[in-house]
Amino acid sequence: PNYENIKIDVVGSKKNVGLIQLNRPKALNALCKPLIEEVGKAVKDFDADDKIAGIILTGNEKAFAAGADIKEMQNNTYSGCQKTGFLAEWEIITNCGKPLIAAVNGFALGGGCELAMLCDIIYAGENAKFGQPEIAIGTIPGAGGTQRLPRYVGKSKAMEIVLTGNFFTAQEAEKMGLVSKVFPVDKLLEETIKLAEKIGTHSPLIVKMAKQAVNQAFETTLKSGLLYEKSLFYGTFATDDRKEGMTAFVEKRPPNFKNE
Ligand code: HXC
Repeated sequence: PNYENIKIDVVGSKKNVGLIQLNRPKALNALCKPLIEEVGKAVKDFDADDKIAGIILTGNEKAFAAGADIKEMQNNTYSGCQKTGFLAEWEIITNCGKPLIAAVNGFALGGGCELAMLCDIIYAGENAKFGQPEIAIGTIPGAGGTQRLPRYVGKSKAMEIVLTGNFFTAQEAEKMGLVSKVFPVDKLLEETIKLAEKIGTHSPLIVKMAKQAVNQAFETTLKSGLLYEKSLFYGTFATDDRKEGMTAFVEKRPPNFKNE
């Protein structure tokens, strides 16, 4: 496909990592509707491609994304938002079954922070700046910021971030559990690719089940989450890859997973 607002590539030594780079540098990758639609399409295509083990979403050194496109939203109305389902195109990104990893350098503000948070893992460069500054322009986070941020960092921190609009650093983000690791700016992408490649050494089928199980922790009570985990865990015993993984261990050889 011919994209205008993103660039896509297949990277990694085994060419099994899908890379999506947001590419509206003049607007600090502000997330206009066509851009999010393109991200959705690229994610969906990589998700459907058997050769792809994981997907990385990144920006450039100045910005992951500085938020929803304020110029595009400026004249929105309440009824218009309702009628058109404003931001509905974000949903498709969250339907990805494969690991989706954000590699964040520079600004991840508003919708940019929310886009990172809907990924499964966030890695950041030392210069990354996170924030939910919507409050300063008279609105509130609208793509998950008020719901996902507290799940990452707890109520007090989330409330502070959403009510002040203050930015916070990669180091602070790591300390509060939003980001899992921080790297020098020029090492971020290669480290993120290594992460995706490591995940890619496992059975794609079982990786998918593990992702579903962890995600359930954010959807339900402990009791039903544990039940869900148990049924997926038992389910792994219906797969060839589970048999192969354990047999390879016992035979002291590397496993040869077939995604079956
Ligand atoms: C549209 C944006 C933009 C945005 C930056 N630009 N952010 N355009 N929407 N969110 C544009 C600027 O207008 C400018 O283009 C160019 O990018 C460079 O930005 P500058 O402001 O000149 O850069 P700088 O001085 O380095 O400041 C960087 C910044 C600042 C601190 C990130 O741009 C900023 O505060 N941006 C807005 C951040 C924000 O409020 N985000 C939340 C948006 S609301 P021109 O052509 O004008 O020079 C949101 C709602 C979420 O995300 C709802 C769910 C998605």
